[in-house]
Amino acid sequence: TMGPSELLRKTLLTLAADTRVRDLIERAPVSRTVVRRYVPGAYDTDAVAAVAELRATDRRATIDHLGEDTTDRAQAQAVTQAYVSLIDLLAAEEHTHGGWAEVSVKLSAVGQLLPDEGAAIALENVRIICAAAERAGTTVTVDMEDHTTTDATLAAVRELRRDYPWVGVAVQAYLHRTEADCRDLAAAGSRVRLCKGAYNEPETVAFQDDDEVDKSFVRCLRILMDGAGYPMVASHDPRLIDIATALAESAGRAADSFEFQMLYGIRPEEQRRLADRGHRMRVYIPYGEEWYGYLMRRMAERPTNAMLFVRSLLSR
Ligand code: FDA
Repeated sequence: TMGPSELLRKTLLTLAADTRVRDLIERAPVSRTVVRRYVPGAYDTDAVAAVAELRATDRRATIDHLGEDTTDRAQAQAVTQAYVSLIDLLAAEEHTHGGWAEVSVKLSAVGQLLPDEGAAIALENVRIICAAAERAGTTVTVDMEDHTTTDATLAAVRELRRDYPWVGVAVQAYLHRTEADCRDLAAAGSRVRLCKGAYNEPETVAFQDDDEVDKSFVRCLRILMDGAGYPMVASHDPRLIDIATALAESAGRAADSFEFQMLYGIRPEEQRRLADRGHRMRVYIPYGEEWYGYLMRRMAERPTNAMLFVRSLLSR
C-alpha cells in the first residue's frame, strides 16, 4: 500500500515522462523565482555566474547541461558542443584550475539511447567532453540514470578511464546491485558519487522502503570510505551526512580525500556550514532550457517542493 507522499512521488514521476503535461506547464505563468531557485538559468553564462557565487563561500561546482533522452545524432552533438563551450568558458574565468568547477554528463543526453550505435555514439561524445576537461585541468562525472542503463554506463566509464582515469561515476543506493558495484569501484583514484537514486524503479531491482535505501547507502558508504578511491557523498540527508563524516574519520581520511555534494538551491545553509567546517562541498548546478524533467524529479523526491511549485502556479 502507498502512503500519500509515495502516491505523489509516483504521480510526479509519471507526469515527468508526459510531454503534453510538460507543454502545459511550460506555457503556464510559472513564477521564475521558483524555477531559478533550482536552475540558475538557460545559458552557460548563468551557470558560470552561479559558480562564482558559490566559490565566494568555498563551494565547488559540478555543472549539468539539462537535456536527456536525446533522440537524434545532431541533438547529441549539440549537447556535446554545449559542454565543450561551457568548459572553455569556465576555463577562461579560471574556475577549472584545481577542479573547482567540473561537469556532470548524462550519457542519454549525448546519444546512449539512439538505436543501434547509441553506446558508441555516447562514448565518442563523452570522450570529446573529457578531452576538453583535461585541457582545462578539470574532471567529468557521469550521472547514473534508470536501471536499464546501469551496465552500459559502467562499461562506458571503464572504457573512458583508460584514457581519463579521473572520470567519476554516480551509483544509486536504492539498487540491490550497488553494494557490489561499490566494491568494484573502490580502487585508487576512483571518483564515485554515492546518491540514493532518483528514478521510479521496480522492486525486482530496487529497495522500495526509505529505510532499506538508507541502510544500503550506509553499507555502500562504508565500502567507499574504507576503500582507496575518492568518495563523493551526494545527499541532503542530515543523518547520512553525519554517518559519512564519522566513517571518513574512522577510516583516517584527510579532508581532501572525499567530498559532500548537494543540489543547487537545496539546503544552502547546510552547504555553507559543511564548507565552513573544512569539508569539501560541491554543488550540482543544472542549467538550460530543459528544466521540466529535472524539476519534476526534484519535486517527486520532496512533496514540500511540489507544494511550493503548485502555489507558484496558482498565484501570479
Ligand atoms: P532525501 O530526499 O531522502 O531527504 C532526506 C532528508 O534530507 C529529509 O528527510 C530532510 O531531512 C533532508 N532534506 C532533503 N531535502 C531538504 C530540503 N530541501 N530542505 C531541508 N531538508 C531537506 N540521482 C540519480 O539517480 N543519479 C544521479 O546521477 C544523481 N546525481 C546527484 C548528484 C547530486 C550532487 C545530488 C545531491 C543528488 C543526485 N541525485 C542523483 C539525486 C539523488 O539520487 C536523490 O534523489 C536526491 O539527492 C534526494 O535524496 P537525498 O539523499 O538528498 O535525501
